[in-house]
Amino acid sequence: MSISRRHFLTGAAGAIGGGALVAGYAGAVEPGWQLAVTAYDLSPPGWPRDFPLKIAVIADPHAAEPYMGAARIEEIVAAANALKPDLVVLLGDYEANHHFVTRLVPRETWARLWAQCRAPLGVQAILGNHDWWFNLVEIRSALKAAGIPVMENNAVRLSHRGRRFWLLGLGDQIAHIRGPRHYEGVDDLPGTLAKITDDAPAILLAHEPDIFVDVPERISLTLAGHTHGGQVRFFGYSPIVPSSYGNRFAYGHIVERGRHMIVSGGLGCSLAPVRLGVPPEIVLVRLGNAA
Ligand SMILES: [Fe+2]
Repeated sequence: MSISRRHFLTGAAGAIGGGALVAGYAGAVEPGWQLAVTAYDLSPPGWPRDFPLKIAVIADPHAAEPYMGAARIEEIVAAANALKPDLVVLLGDYEANHHFVTRLVPRETWARLWAQCRAPLGVQAILGNHDWWFNLVEIRSALKAAGIPVMENNAVRLSHRGRRFWLLGLGDQIAHIRGPRHYEGVDDLPGTLAKITDDAPAILLAHEPDIFVDVPERISLTLAGHTHGGQVRFFGYSPIVPSSYGNRFAYGHIVERGRHMIVSGGLGCSLAPVRLGVPPEIVLVRLGNAA
């Protein structure tokens, strides 16, 4: 065998082995075992600098074996509690519906586990598109039965350290599938904003980030999920993003015209059970110099 042919075969074997390693990592290690905490420190317009608030964000868990079984959820809850947040928010898409599900997690189980998140201001939830597309009634009632309020186009005024702020939860923006790439939402942003009755600062929870183009300056911070950061992301670029705005709203802290949004890369997998360059994450938002 010539040297060059041997080099070629060695290189080819290495490439195949490397490809298998990457595939194994993206298909098993990153989605199933990694867990990152991504922290953001900010004092956006309208949020008092001397009003510290720590929010743990749980987005897109998509519960189901093999990647998001009960033990994995317990691990995430323990990690979130270790951050000692003031408030925990769940941004929707609670169950997995992809073809690689090996075993479902009973919704009473995942709901009970998420309810074990501990924070003085409690746990607040919104619903995502997968919740609307599959088992909506059961998911909504499992959350409520576990004691987790589900916000759908409503607002609650919370008190923290003697001050008040508004937490708004938007209905899902692509709740109904009307045709190929044609959706209809149940979101009502004007109606939700109208429930704010004083000038306390406000935070909006929205499953999909696309609403951000319409969010007014009155909202200090929008928290969103849904994109999973594209599930595959290199050097700040995701080839596939389930957003009408592509990479503009794919991931991270986005500031436009003085308005702030944080898009979580989420925790689970939706259609394809693959993650590469976007490890499952708990987002920790520290507002107003919260340590
Ligand atoms: Fe989603």
